[in-house]
This record gives sequence, C-alpha cells and structure tokens, in this order.
Amino acid sequence: MKNNTLPPRRLSVAPMLDWTDRHYRHMARQITRHTWLYTEMINAGAVIYGDPDRFLLKNDGENPVALQLGGSEPQDLAKAAAKAAAYGYDEINLNCGCPSPRVQKGAFGACLMKEADLVADCLNAMQEAAPDCAVTVKHRIGLDCETDYQPLADFVGTLAEKTDCTTFIVHARNAWLEGLSPKENRDVPPLRYDYVYRLKREFPALEIIINGGIKTNDEIAAHLQHVDGVMVGRECYHNPMLMRDWDRLFYGDDHAPVSYAELVGRLKDYAAAQLAAGRGTILRHMARHYLGLMHGLNGARHWRRMLSDAELLKPNDPDLILRAWEQVERANDFSDGLPAGKD
Ligand SMILES: Cc1cc2nc3c(=O)[nH]c(=O)nc-3n(C[C@H](O)[C@H](O)[C@H](O)COP(=O)(O)O)c2cc1C
Repeated sequence: MKNNTLPPRRLSVAPMLDWTDRHYRHMARQITRHTWLYTEMINAGAVIYGDPDRFLLKNDGENPVALQLGGSEPQDLAKAAAKAAAYGYDEINLNCGCPSPRVQKGAFGACLMKEADLVADCLNAMQEAAPDCAVTVKHRIGLDCETDYQPLADFVGTLAEKTDCTTFIVHARNAWLEGLSPKENRDVPPLRYDYVYRLKREFPALEIIINGGIKTNDEIAAHLQHVDGVMVGRECYHNPMLMRDWDRLFYGDDHAPVSYAELVGRLKDYAAAQLAAGRGTILRHMARHYLGLMHGLNGARHWRRMLSDAELLKPNDPDLILRAWEQVERANDFSDGLPAGKD
C-alpha cells in the first residue's frame, strides 16, 4: 500500500552527488519538516552488488525521502528498488537527466530521454518490485541542440501512457551530451520554464515539478502558480537556511522555525551520536555540509574556516561545532531568535 499520508511534493531538495548524503539530509530535515529530500544518484549495480548499508542507510525521521537510482536495465533497477523499499524510502526516482560521460557510457542518465519505451520498462519493473513506493522520473527538457517542445511532450506522454508514474521532475534546460562538463550542463543550456508550464497545462493529471536555477522564496511562489512543485538544488546546499520558512510559506504549517542556536545544538548531538556509532564516520563527513548554514550572517567566515580546518577536525570532537557557533553568536544580535538584518 502506498503511503497516502505523505505531504505533497510542493518543495523538494534536488538529488546531488556527493552533497545530499544522509548527513546533509539530516540537517535539512531539522530545518524543514515537510520538504521532500532526495539522495545522491546511486548506481543500481552498486546497490545490488555493493554493501547496501553504505548506499542505502538513512536516518530515522528523514522521511519523506526519495532514493534516486541510475541505471537502464529493468531487472537491475527492480532489484535495487526492492532493496531500497526495505530501507524505508518513500519514493524511488529514476535519473534521466545526468549528462556525465561516465553515465553516458553506461547508457543511462540523460541519454535515456531518447528511449522512452526502455524507460517505461524500467519504471514498470521498479514499481512491481517496490509496490509501496512512488516511482518517479527526473529528466531534462531535451537533448543537445533540440529546441522543439514536442519531443519532451512525447517522452512524458509515452511514460504517462505506459506506466503508473504520475510524478515528473523536470530540470528546465537541455542536456548537451557532448562538449559540456556536467557542471557546465547545469548552467549553460538556457532555462525554458515555459516548456515545463506547458507540460502541466497539457498533462493536468500529472504532478509536474520544476527544477533549475531557482533561488528565492519569491521565485518559488511564482513557479507554484504554474506547476505542482519546485525542486531546489544548489541554493539549498550553499544556503540551507533558505528552507527555514518553507513549512510556513508553502505547507501552511505555522510551527516556529528552528533557531540557529537550537539547530547547532541538534547538529552537535547528531555528530556525537554518529561518531559513537562508528561505521568509519568522521567529523568532516558531517561538518562539510554545515559550511553554508551561516550564509549572510556576521562571522560566517569564521564558522566556515573552523569547520573546514583539517587540524581542528582531526580530533573528531563534536564540540568544535559549538566553538565555531560561538564566533557567530558573538558577532550577531539574536535577541529575538533571529539575527538582526535577517527577516
Ligand atoms: C554537485 C551536484 C551534484 C548533482 N548530482 C545529481 C544527481 O546525482 N542526480 C540528479 O538527478 N541531478 C544531480 N544534480 C543536478 C541537480 O539535481 C539539479 O537538477 C541542478 O543542480 C539544477 O537545480 P539548481 O539550479 O536548483 O541547482 C547535481 C547537481 C550538483 C550541483
């Protein structure tokens, strides 16, 4: 049975390789209760043949959370999806948007946009293997120099017709399979939000989530006039406190946003527990995701410097997080719980 009590995907944090691991997701979940979180892309083969804990372990209290898989073999994806379901993921997402040469060599990622029938087979196999999870897809608006809307509509239309997938996450720019690095592929091809809006108009029954270049709450609110949800990537990583108001603004939940002091305390407790649990976790694995937290505050530079200093990190003492916080606390006026100048 699919869990129908989950919040809608009005807001989500994008899957980001090396960035949205379970430590980042833990931090994000302290800031927003309802936003959907996505893992990094995990290769289906790694899940099947590797150490499943290494790739699938997540924290309690992290849901709603989606695992993103990379692959193009329906049976492999099905096996990986079954394992993921057992770890408690709410959704399994298939990557059809990554343009990296390594991924192209494996014939998955963005090049799957040329193979809608194969993608349909993949999604159906995943859904059969993980009937309690939502199975969704993340893709681009096109490949290479294609500028027409119709191939995008055909891709979505084929999947809508041949699968039970109803959620489409659309990074609103093309993937250029040659000539651009993955990083350039996130900036250079022009954004076409109008194509994503048109998808929603032409497929009103589908849940259409827009992604790409979205940075502020005003921009999010504007997109939500046209589509069902907004996925934010880089801004949520470099400025995680952006998410502090999302429950109130976009989910109608008026609980008080987490204060900086409270958040820092929770992160310190989490780090202590993770270090005690072993599994090879060191303080740097967590602290590196905290660097953007003080974005825009006085003392943010000290915070970043202390939490990225190899010598300071070496003893794996979680109190380092508190010591770095003291620098920020001293430099700002938090008398009303929020720093002066913010809000
Ligand atoms: C460091 C990094 C890693 C990424 N890894 C993935 C990934 O594993 N899977 C995926 O679908 N997209 C990945 N992306 C793309 C993002 O999910 C998102 O589509 C893209 O960054 C555009 O959104 P933004 O402008 O809000 O960042 C990655 C982006 C970044 C910056």
